[in-house]
Amino acid sequence: MLPSHRLILASLQLCLLLLVVSFTEGRSLKCPPGKVCSVRPPVVLIPGDLGNQLEAKLDKPSVVHYICYKKTEDYFTLWLNLELLVPVAIDCWIDNMRLLYNRTNHLSEPPPGVDIRVPGFGETYSLEYLDPSKRSVGMYFFTIVQSLVDWGYTRNDDVRGAPYDWRKAPNENKEYFLRLQQMIEEMAHKAGGPVVLIAHSMGNMYTLYFLNHQPQAWKDRYIKAYVSLGPPWAGVAKTLRVMATGDNNRIPVISPLKIRTQQRTAVSTTWLLPYAHTWPKDMVLVYTPNTTYTVQDYQRFFKDIDYEDGWAMRQDTEPLVSALQPPGVPVHCLYGTGIPTPQGYNYTNFPDTDPAVINGDGDGTVNLISAIQCKRWKGQQKQAVEWLELPGNEHVAMLLNSTTVDYIKKVLFSP
Ligand SMILES: *[C@@H]1O[C@H](CO)[C@@H](O)[C@H](O)[C@H]1NC(C)=O
Ligand SMILES: *[C@@H]1O[C@H](CO)[C@@H](O)[C@H](O)[C@H]1NC(C)=O
Ligand SMILES: *[C@@H]1O[C@H](CO)[C@@H](O)[C@H](O)[C@H]1NC(C)=O
Ligand SMILES: *[C@@H]1O[C@H](CO)[C@@H](O)[C@H](O)[C@H]1NC(C)=O
Repeated sequence: MLPSHRLILASLQLCLLLLVVSFTEGRSLKCPPGKVCSVRPPVVLIPGDLGNQLEAKLDKPSVVHYICYKKTEDYFTLWLNLELLVPVAIDCWIDNMRLLYNRTNHLSEPPPGVDIRVPGFGETYSLEYLDPSKRSVGMYFFTIVQSLVDWGYTRNDDVRGAPYDWRKAPNENKEYFLRLQQMIEEMAHKAGGPVVLIAHSMGNMYTLYFLNHQPQAWKDRYIKAYVSLGPPWAGVAKTLRVMATGDNNRIPVISPLKIRTQQRTAVSTTWLLPYAHTWPKDMVLVYTPNTTYTVQDYQRFFKDIDYEDGWAMRQDTEPLVSALQPPGVPVHCLYGTGIPTPQGYNYTNFPDTDPAVINGDGDGTVNLISAIQCKRWKGQQKQAVEWLELPGNEHVAMLLNSTTVDYIKKVLFSP
């Protein structure tokens, strides 16, 4: 989820022991005699919400402000581009980033004349730095990729990224999973051995969905291990504020109510609302002067905030991984704790004024109760399930921490 520093990305919306994976299924993955094969398992990185660049090309019938571009010759960076997030320009940005949800076919699409693409599939740049100018504010997977390179990996060869349109949930990203599957197979064949997946935040929900849809024989053959960083298995409470009021990530120049217009339309945010399989059913997520909302009250919540599309989106996306079916590969879950993490909101003026925040444990974004749900897989799958708590690690900062990096190294280089 939310890559980036305290400043902008600090948080919008929103396991290790190594197993010897058997090659028994994978005859063709064995290194043929006489050929030099890699000793390093190839690595695929799957980013979180807001976790890779997006580009746009415009040819719009109308714009919301005269300073906004109506037409561009080429694609330009829409995320992350700090220049577009300043006053007035942000109105144009919001109008280009938002999605229009169609309740008849349950699909979301950009406004007329806005063409969005995900740059860099199969490469690492679009998730190493969210901002192509490589400002540190947008630094995301860089530390991990650079460490891999220091250990002998080559960018875009045996370490590759799998960026996607994180505004949407897997039900609207079917093609992504085919490309991901093909890339994993190609990398495994080239290296002569299975691949290690490393996902962060919502990327874990994507990864689980992907693995749940692969046959076990495919997973045995192609996946050596899966490292899950900051996983929101049961959703995150912060999404309720994003939907209700908008979240400016504490950047004062951005009005939460303004950015709410765009944030509400991101289908993936509704996918990340807390799940009843884990959240206590009587735990209040939102207090207002005349009512409360729990995990069982989303229909009423969306009606009361006057955004009923949100309820339809939730129904579309809730079943995607809500069974928390085991991934069927060796999994290593790493999660930060000890950082105040919103677990409830108290409104005096719902939903239009910033609420008081009620904090609990977690990494600042993902509630602890959500991150630890990988533990349930121990005993549910025959492959190893390991976890490691990282006290004092914030959701994005954990990607920079040497404990995380050392753990990844251990997974990659153990036999
Ligand atoms: C919504 O989808 C339906 C079915 O595909 C289509 O007929 C309709 O035109 C769409 N509505 C809008 C506003 O695009
Ligand atoms: C809650 O109370 C406010 C202020 O008293 C009122 O305007 C609003 O309609 C009430 N909302 C509901 C859902 O009852
Ligand atoms: C919410 O805020 C109101 C007004 O400040 C306060 O009276 C109430 O106790 C708060 N409720 C919770 C659960 O924090
Ligand atoms: C890295 O994580 C470890 C384990 O949680 C923690 O003790 C340490 O303080 C962190 N280091 C930094 C620089 O944050």
